[in-house]
Amino acid sequence: MTKQGVAGARSDIAGFGLGIPDRIMTNADLEKIVDTSDEWIITRTGIRERRIAPDDVNVSDLAAEAGLDAIADAGLSAEDIDLIVVATGSPELIWPSTACLTQTKLGLDSCPAFDLQAACSGFTYGMTVADGLIASGVYKTVLLIGAEVMSRFVDWKDRGTCVLFGDGAGAVVLRPAREGYGVKASVLGARGSGSDLLLIPAGGSGRVCSAEVVNEEAQMIRMKGNEVYRFAVKILPENIEAVVAEAGLTLGDVDHIIPHQANQRIIEVAAERMGIERDKIISNIAKYGNTSAASIPIALAELDREGRLKPGDIIITVAFGAGLTWGANLLRWGGKEE
Ligand code: ACO
Repeated sequence: MTKQGVAGARSDIAGFGLGIPDRIMTNADLEKIVDTSDEWIITRTGIRERRIAPDDVNVSDLAAEAGLDAIADAGLSAEDIDLIVVATGSPELIWPSTACLTQTKLGLDSCPAFDLQAACSGFTYGMTVADGLIASGVYKTVLLIGAEVMSRFVDWKDRGTCVLFGDGAGAVVLRPAREGYGVKASVLGARGSGSDLLLIPAGGSGRVCSAEVVNEEAQMIRMKGNEVYRFAVKILPENIEAVVAEAGLTLGDVDHIIPHQANQRIIEVAAERMGIERDKIISNIAKYGNTSAASIPIALAELDREGRLKPGDIIITVAFGAGLTWGANLLRWGGKEE
């Protein structure tokens, strides 16, 4: 059973949610696991600590927590949700989807639910898809969640990657925008020829999990960090420029830029290249590390909880990730429904 929306209005964020594990892993904790230092991690990445989900907490638990939080924040109940989209690169199972596992934890039993896989760009892809479905009138109320337990795919012996990632979930409820508000522009892109730069080499149908795979730890994240870094510092400014142009605005009109939280240096280099004022660029990477598809909705929800979002603010979300993929959305936020 599905509910129909009304064609025409693009979407806006009606509520924000968080699902953050309690357990904190500091850089000092990592010093005990791999040959690294607090100083190296802070200088090269800006990360001070990250959250790690306990063994008995799954990605759908974090997704459901963030989803319920966003639904309550929007002043709705779970039954109002017409569609659940979970952007994740660390799904609980190959199938069923994490979205279906999340649906049941929300107490729902019939609304459509699917996962969206665009690695760290998943939230920007998800927002574009959800916005299109709302604007075309297919659905009215979409719960979009970014949720990850990256810690399960981290090789804890590889100091080049294990210091970077963390777990968590963020969510938004998207509804038709009031006139003049909501999503104004979206840009997405992908370059599959860069798929070898950042990947989980095994565990899918190309190389199913086996004792050999586990021995090689080929089911863990592998990354060519320097090349990803070079790609990121180029694509972030390009995306911001493209989405601002698409919306017919200038950078000066923008109030908040929420980049994917991969590395503080990447964020700062991009901001410097574009001459963006420091306080417009949102960063919480020091607390959470890289939570992949969850990083933007977590940062958005925190911005709202801190009272820094005002109705009428122009917000850009912008991401890059494995694929390679990238994407950005620009919206004029209309505030929460009374
Ligand atoms: N602690 C101490 N030393 C380290 C560590 C560590 N954790 N990791 C690497 N090093 C060492 C290296 O071995 C190397 O030593 P060497 O000079 O003796 O060979 C030295 O530090 C420099 O290594 P680089 O890899 O050149 O360090 P760099 O300054 O490039 O920083 C980093 C590495 C942080 C990974 C950076 O390349 C980066 O941020 N890349 C982009 C990562 C990213 O954005 N990934 C995710 C994007 S998409 C997604 O989110 C899924």
